[in-house]
Amino acid sequence: MNEILATLHDDHVNMSKLIDLLEQELAAFKEGDAVDIALLQDLMDYMSHYPDGVHHPREDLIARRLAERDPVAASNADSLMAEHGELDDLARRVYAAVNEIALDAELDRDGIVHLVADYVDRLRNHMNREEVTFFPLAERTLLAADWEDLKGSFGDARDPMFGPDMQEKYRSLRDSLLSGQ
Ligand SMILES: [Fe+2]
Repeated sequence: MNEILATLHDDHVNMSKLIDLLEQELAAFKEGDAVDIALLQDLMDYMSHYPDGVHHPREDLIARRLAERDPVAASNADSLMAEHGELDDLARRVYAAVNEIALDAELDRDGIVHLVADYVDRLRNHMNREEVTFFPLAERTLLAADWEDLKGSFGDARDPMFGPDMQEKYRSLRDSLLSGQ
């Protein structure tokens, strides 16, 4: 796996841990148990910014280049990019729902449970599709010059939670993930 795909794969590993944690908290919420609301807010703050702002745009660039090299892959690339838009929108809605829980507002609990479960399911399926189909196809099809171009167009944004220049606001969430809580 080349360096670009390896970084995107690492993002998937991190996002998978985050949505596992989100799912655990959702199970507690569903039972009417206490949830760690500050943790959920940090989690969805990250999930509604980093994938939308950095991870998905990079995958979109790869998908567009792949569509140029392989016309058969073009429709798949379109549907992949459409899923990115839907997932980014869902992430913002989940973040808004978490903020409603924090405000202790009158809650549509069933609606929130359904929304979060849908988000977790779709994001998991999407990442799985990328790992199983999209990344291997890109690796087989794109040329060294493509990867160089892509690298140049990615910019230098780095992961604000798991990267070397972690933002302080994510410290406690990262610590709880690393300690397996
Ligand atoms: Fe992805």
